Amino acid sequence: MPFHFLLTLTADKKQMGNPTRKLTIAIDGYSSCGKSTVAKDLAKVLGYTYIDSGAMYRSVTLFCMENSLMEGDYVDEARLKILIQDLTIHFTFDAANQRYITWMNHQKVEDKIRTLAVSNNVSAVSKIGFVREKLVKLQQKMGEKGGIVMDGRDIGTVVYPQAELKIFMTASPQVRAQRRFDEIKATGQEVLFQEVLDNIEKRDYIDANREISPLRKAEDAVILDNSFLTKQEQLEELIALVNQRSK
Ligand code: DC
Repeated sequence: MPFHFLLTLTADKKQMGNPTRKLTIAIDGYSSCGKSTVAKDLAKVLGYTYIDSGAMYRSVTLFCMENSLMEGDYVDEARLKILIQDLTIHFTFDAANQRYITWMNHQKVEDKIRTLAVSNNVSAVSKIGFVREKLVKLQQKMGEKGGIVMDGRDIGTVVYPQAELKIFMTASPQVRAQRRFDEIKATGQEVLFQEVLDNIEKRDYIDANREISPLRKAEDAVILDNSFLTKQEQLEELIALVNQRSK
């Protein structure tokens, strides 16, 4: 169903809550379960800002890799703690290509942060307390006016515990690995399916078991298992929830 049709549906006064009330929407869940796709679509339909918090952890990881601050799982936390103070991250929207762009220290890093090398290193960086503190503050600042859809792991639990709508997304590891594998192949990178599945299972474990802000469902989050849902069906479920919450 095209967006304009959905907009027409949601613009029906009987279905729609108060459209001027701008909500804070937190979408958390496992790696590669399609959070960002549906979060972007939802932000577009609602005219909200979309923020990919994972891109921020990926950017700090890329910074560590490019500045010899990490080797395997070891991160030079003493140096990073100093250098991170001046690190800037922001997002722009490339309307011509309908694409969000991540910038780190005013350099476009959107493609570089999506490589498997960054995916393999990001868990070691995202478990560091001062990294999370810095990024959570930035995320809270980005969403202080509401009208935001943010996806990640701790958005409903730590970043916006007051969010009006919290979603916890999930799908089986096999389904997620297949989607991620297809995405990587589409960019022309060579990769084995097993390698992608191993990375997803490893990140699931680390995300759910790290000491600080582990991935967990907020008590008041709605579970959305999208293993067998199309993008359109997911979007429709979310729009129905938004309409309920805006009343
Ligand atoms: O959403 P993603 O896969 O691009 O996120 C990359 C990594 O960043 C992921 O392995 C976990 C971490 N992350 C996090 O710890 N907290 C967030 N709010 C978002 C991502």
